[in-house]
Amino acid sequence: MEKILVLDFGGQYNQLIARRVRDKRVYAEILPYTTPLETVAAQNYKGIIFTGGPNSVFDPASPHYDPAVLSLGVPVLGICYGCQLTAYMAGGKVETAESSEYGKIELTVDQRDSLLFRGVPADSTVWMSHTDRVTALPEGFVPTAHTDHCPVAAFENRDKRLYAVQFHPEVTHSVFGDRMLENFLFEVCGCKGEWQMDSFIEDSVKALREQIGDKKVILGLSGGVDSSVAAALISRAVGKQLTCVFVDQGLMRKDEGDFVEETFTRLFDMNFVRVNAREVFYRELKGVSDPEEKRRIIGTAFYRVFWDEIRRQNDRGFFAQGTIYPDRVESGKGDADKIKTHHNKVKMPEDVDFLGIIEPLADLFKDEVRRVGEKLGIPHELVWRQPFPGPGLGVRIIGEITPEKVRLLQEADYVLRDEIAKCGYDSHLAQFFCVLPGVKSVGVMGDHRTYEDLIVIRAVTTDDFMTADWAKIPYDILARVSARITNEVKGVNRVVYDVTTKPPATVEWE
Ligand code: XMP
Repeated sequence: MEKILVLDFGGQYNQLIARRVRDKRVYAEILPYTTPLETVAAQNYKGIIFTGGPNSVFDPASPHYDPAVLSLGVPVLGICYGCQLTAYMAGGKVETAESSEYGKIELTVDQRDSLLFRGVPADSTVWMSHTDRVTALPEGFVPTAHTDHCPVAAFENRDKRLYAVQFHPEVTHSVFGDRMLENFLFEVCGCKGEWQMDSFIEDSVKALREQIGDKKVILGLSGGVDSSVAAALISRAVGKQLTCVFVDQGLMRKDEGDFVEETFTRLFDMNFVRVNAREVFYRELKGVSDPEEKRRIIGTAFYRVFWDEIRRQNDRGFFAQGTIYPDRVESGKGDADKIKTHHNKVKMPEDVDFLGIIEPLADLFKDEVRRVGEKLGIPHELVWRQPFPGPGLGVRIIGEITPEKVRLLQEADYVLRDEIAKCGYDSHLAQFFCVLPGVKSVGVMGDHRTYEDLIVIRAVTTDDFMTADWAKIPYDILARVSARITNEVKGVNRVVYDVTTKPPATVEWE
């Protein structure tokens, strides 16, 4: 299989670069700059991309690499810090400029016949973010583009297939950046672009069959995208040898538990075990209103209920989970081999053991997982499901959780989702839901004064959930949602819209 290596020097865009490459159907993997040259040389990569990074190449503490990487005969594209590093390793000069160049900058291509700039106009906008710059090129290299403040914004050694750009072709602000990456992959590296989800499914099914043999597999299904796709893939490989355990804690959205059960029992060949544990959760949550305490109780009860069920399964075999690539790779630390601290790897009780762990999606990004899910026939609404926190509606009911409050929030949330889906506005939103703050207010219905619950609508746009903006949902949609909630949900007489960004607020209320 043709592969591109993204060598990670700590830039914030390492995952983005790999995704862009994979979008062009070339498999890309991220490795840290600490990976030995021999390991890289042994892999038969079609090309290597050096990522950006926050450091200065002449700082001895900054990440460096064995210059012999430039003599492997494998094409290289250095980006930002990776560009300076390429110059530095090959014997060029890098200096700190008087002022930084940041944001959208006009780039002028001087070598129009450069393979990297094929189809790129003489002048175009690129995204820059640097202070250091290349001031003298190593022998054998020619400058190929400049900006007003950066005389060497790109350079190359065509014979050795070494290329470097000071700007970031991987971000969309670089208007022809995608074209440049394409040129690197197909013109310079000679990739064919044959990596696709069909072959991923075929290869995975084959590998899973080999690994699992005639043994059993158990998977904890949450109803989220990742575990659902992992379940469907393993089901395709070994059918009824797979048992999915789905714990219904009574804190899911309206009818969600039934929907998950129906999907996996009707559409896929597997054993599906639904543990109806809502009474247990409600009982343990009774009288508790501290947010951290609620989370702890939900987490602990889940762990106990889930593993008790697993213990009941006699012939256990392998344990599978829906870990995906970003769960394993940190962004922007130059340590692509480190497992993220919040890697949601399931903690196992000591008395439960398995033949091994199976993580069939461990090399895929979220959008790739979704494409696999669609190809496997998982319903659209499950594949494109918005994120839903593990503790479920528990973090959206402020104060004590009671079955009645859960019902009320489920009803209101259902109306919101129904209205948003009807007008197709969901594609504009990263996440949207209702919150029950446990506040009552005075209202009027007919001749009667009411004193009922308040529902909050929360809707955000975001790329990564680290920061988020409140969504500017058109007023007419909000008006319909509000009218329907107050009409249809008994016990609610007022609806408000949360207009707070993250930070200072978070997406969830608890
Ligand atoms: P916050 O509220 O921290 O949420 O801005 C960011 C994203 O994370 C989700 N979230 C959780 N997901 N378990 C999860 O699996 C949790 O405890 C949890 N808390 C928040 C939240 O829905 C949003 O997408």
